[in-house]
Amino acid sequence: MSRLYGDKENIDSNWVKDFFNERAKKDVDSDLSIVLFQDKENSEQRHLEEKKIFHKYIDVSGKKVFEFGCGIGRWAEALHDKCESYLGIDFSENLLDIAKRTYADKENCHFQFMSATDIKIDELLVKPPFDVFITSGFLLYLNDDDLKIIVDNMNLLGSEDKKVFIMEPTSCMDSRLTLKDFYSEGLEVDYSAIYRTKDEYLEFFEPLNYNSLIVDTIFDDLSDHSETDYKFFVME
Ligand SMILES: C[S@@+](CC[C@H](N)C(=O)[O-])C[C@H]1O[C@@H](n2cnc3c(N)ncnc32)[C@H](O)[C@@H]1O
Repeated sequence: MSRLYGDKENIDSNWVKDFFNERAKKDVDSDLSIVLFQDKENSEQRHLEEKKIFHKYIDVSGKKVFEFGCGIGRWAEALHDKCESYLGIDFSENLLDIAKRTYADKENCHFQFMSATDIKIDELLVKPPFDVFITSGFLLYLNDDDLKIIVDNMNLLGSEDKKVFIMEPTSCMDSRLTLKDFYSEGLEVDYSAIYRTKDEYLEFFEPLNYNSLIVDTIFDDLSDHSETDYKFFVME
């Protein structure tokens, strides 16, 4: 049980998978609460605000969207009426069941069981290239080597003018914070996650060779800003 400052310590991806599969079964306020960890009202509010930020920077009209770690598929709700297609992959069967059930009538939305670090390109339900990539509340559950795989996959699966939207909890200290089997009172479990600094993330994103970058901090009310905050990155 630890709270590690600065150290590069790996977290257990099997724990991540089990944690999300168990959360899908929890009796929480709403489906949004499963992945946003807040009550119904606050989760809905946050989902709305995140959608607004996304649409401010990215127009998905006629675009093919790919999400790594899609969970209950809430980004499909935000995009289905504009994009050509949306494909979300996840390694939690239980969360994918919720996504498939919720968006069963959205014909251009697809949810697929697949590890984001072991993508089988030939098996993808929507064929690349993809125009827009999304990660949201996902990269903090990946170790550094796996994060490099995600960036490589964006380059491999993306169109020449791809856009990347990333919204993640980050460290606002000088160095990263890793929670490793750290008891979370709110979630009532031992919890693991890596809060990287903005600069660390930017170093990981360098191979994307983007021409423009927007980074900003959001959700001031969700954080006391002493150690962590929320940031979004838009690269194109
Ligand atoms: C906090 S949820 C966020 C879900 C969704 N992106 C959203 O914003 O609502 C994190 C998701 O990442 C998924 N995940 C974590 N590591 C993964 C991996 N290696 N491969 C696929 N999915 C992964 C989890 O199963 C979970 O659904």
